[in-house]
Amino acid sequence: MTIRAVVKGVGHFLPERVVKNSEFEASLNTSDEWIQARSGIKQRHFVCEGEKTSDMAIIAAQAALADAGLEANDLDAVIVATSTGDLIFPSTATIVQAGINMTKGFAYDLQAVCAGFVFALSTANAQILSGQAKCVMVIGAESFSHLLDWEDRSTCVLFGDGAGAVLLQAEQGEGTSNDRGILSVDLNSDGRHKEILYVDGGVSTGKTGYLRMQGKEVFRHAVEKLAQTAEVAMEKAGVSAEDIDWVVPHQANIRIINSTTKKIGVAPEKVVKTVEEHGNTSAASIPLALSVAKAKGQIKENDLIITEAIGGGLVWGGVVLRW
Ligand code: ACO
Repeated sequence: MTIRAVVKGVGHFLPERVVKNSEFEASLNTSDEWIQARSGIKQRHFVCEGEKTSDMAIIAAQAALADAGLEANDLDAVIVATSTGDLIFPSTATIVQAGINMTKGFAYDLQAVCAGFVFALSTANAQILSGQAKCVMVIGAESFSHLLDWEDRSTCVLFGDGAGAVLLQAEQGEGTSNDRGILSVDLNSDGRHKEILYVDGGVSTGKTGYLRMQGKEVFRHAVEKLAQTAEVAMEKAGVSAEDIDWVVPHQANIRIINSTTKKIGVAPEKVVKTVEEHGNTSAASIPLALSVAKAKGQIKENDLIITEAIGGGLVWGGVVLRW
């Protein structure tokens, strides 16, 4: 017998403001055709004036609680994976804790950029396995629109805003890959690649700054490292590509998703894709995709799922779980 961190509920939120590719044509030398061909993106959601990362995270968390049939005070912990928290401090997680009326337990942010949700799943899993927590809300929430340089056509068309939440609860398992819950985790980072994806602002600069990216380099690392982490995570879980029901990848670029899935040998129809509608929402992209896929009836109980993500740092990782 072993303890497993099992998904009990999911939820998501997307801001009302939808921006189609054609809107960029007025101010930039770009086209709907170029954006779709190079990234797969058709539209993205951007926060409205005054709408904050915590506002989206609160709604996503409330939806996940409702989906699980639980109350805020059933939670022991809230983790918010984000690079676009409301303030330097307090953490966005504590703002969310207050926002959902959770008056006990603990809450903290985790920053691993686009891989933040995978890292947060890993942390929540470790806290559940150690007995430190029994019920953990893991949220990915981002308003990347605040970090975009609207004059840089190679980055500003790729990102979007949103939030997704997954509620994990401790449950007894048999200790086999037939158990529901998180079956394996693989985390990696290599700080030598800072220059290919970063924000040129922060406390040391006195400004928030803008996202800067060497797209081709990021692309090359992404396909190689995502396939590698997916293979390691599957091996650790004792499952193979044929066993996988759904790949739920970080939604950065349809070409990265297709190349990675081909490399790991999972059939294309088993891949959840939301990048067309959401753009790259960084740490929010995987929980958003999980929530949308469940709502569409794609993901069902007992399905075997692999998620993988990569972000600035570089940081990357994968998780295998049975829904
Ligand atoms: N519209 C029109 N032309 C553009 C645009 C645009 N929005 N953006 C760039 N171009 C131009 C470039 O200036 C370049 O022109 P040039 O040849 O005259 O210099 C040309 O298009 C080709 O540019 P490339 O960078 O070679 O295009 P590429 O096929 O590599 O696609 C892209 C660019 C989409 C950024 C791609 O490299 C990519 O997706 N990289 C991965 C980056 C990513 O997903 N980052 C997300 C953050 S990290 C993560 O989440 C994994």
